[in-house]
Amino acid sequence: MERKRVFSGIQPTGDSLHLGNYLGAMVGMLDLQEQHECIFSVVDYHAITVPYETERLSQRVLNVALDYLAAGIDPQKSVLMVQSDVHEHVELSWILGCLITVNKLSHLPTYKDKVARYGVAGLGLLSYPVLMAADILLYEAELVPVGQDQLPHIEFAREVARAFNRRFEPVFPEPQAHLMPGAVVPSLLGQGAMSKSVPGSYIALTDEPAVIGKKLAGAVTDPARQRLRDSGEPTRCNVYTLHELYTLPQQLSEIAAGCRGATIGCLECKAVLAEEISEGLAPIRERRRALAADPNYMRDVLRDGAQRARSMAEATMFKVKQAMGLLTA
Ligand code: TYM
Repeated sequence: MERKRVFSGIQPTGDSLHLGNYLGAMVGMLDLQEQHECIFSVVDYHAITVPYETERLSQRVLNVALDYLAAGIDPQKSVLMVQSDVHEHVELSWILGCLITVNKLSHLPTYKDKVARYGVAGLGLLSYPVLMAADILLYEAELVPVGQDQLPHIEFAREVARAFNRRFEPVFPEPQAHLMPGAVVPSLLGQGAMSKSVPGSYIALTDEPAVIGKKLAGAVTDPARQRLRDSGEPTRCNVYTLHELYTLPQQLSEIAAGCRGATIGCLECKAVLAEEISEGLAPIRERRRALAADPNYMRDVLRDGAQRARSMAEATMFKVKQAMGLLTA
């Protein structure tokens, strides 16, 4: 199989990643790192586009890096780096920004959502998708493992690549999203997706089994099912959507039949899922604990990752500048 470049990034906005990040994005990264040349990043410059706590940022960056390694990203196979360690991300972002209209950016859905949520309309927030396009194009990446919420941004990166190639020379491939079955991991609150910014919506990768059990016990199910004797409809239930990602087909169809026929209660159904999720997360939690005990190792991995990323970034920037008439010597 042809070896392609892969890039993806995760923002350091919480204390630990959640099941949505893992099933939506990381499972795809793990899948791709076996065959392709991967660069995975903690995108700290994206995290400062909205208000954040200065004193917690550096620890959050390290936490995401820990989550990457604990989940199985292997620094022997993939490059793991922090975005702000490679200044070419910002340099290319400036260049690409010169090809894009403000009007186009202000109509992207995430910009409007964030302005509504934070009440700030900073230039950084507006050009967030340009920086994201730069992240991907800087490594000439062809595949981008992400959750479904990132699709408008990937589409935008493709447009930017086309605009550059048309205006100057064909330097960039058009990147494609690499989606997994967990592309939309639902919220525990019954509506929308699991999200770091919505408390109560998520299961963290660091949650202990007892916490997972408790969170799931409180999760919203099919609203039509108030009592055990009410029959439920699994397709209206977020807990069932999670079951679809964890439970083998035979048991899954038993659960669906039990829900429709009111022979299995929601708590029983949730207990099965809690055990499966806890079992799946146990090795990640253990590896994370071991890695957290050795901060020097983590620093070495990130230093090495930055160095490897930098040499790829420099090669692309040379082509970009040459194509644009920015090289004088
Ligand atoms: P971020 O940090 O919000 O999320 C990281 C990854 O997790 C995925 N994800 C989900 N997938 C399925 N179900 C969910 N409930 C769920 N919640 C989050 C996201 O889709 C994402 O893949 N803009 C990006 C970061 C970024 C980036 C990049 C990604 C910056 N530059 C370049 C790819 C390539 C973001 O905010 O992801």
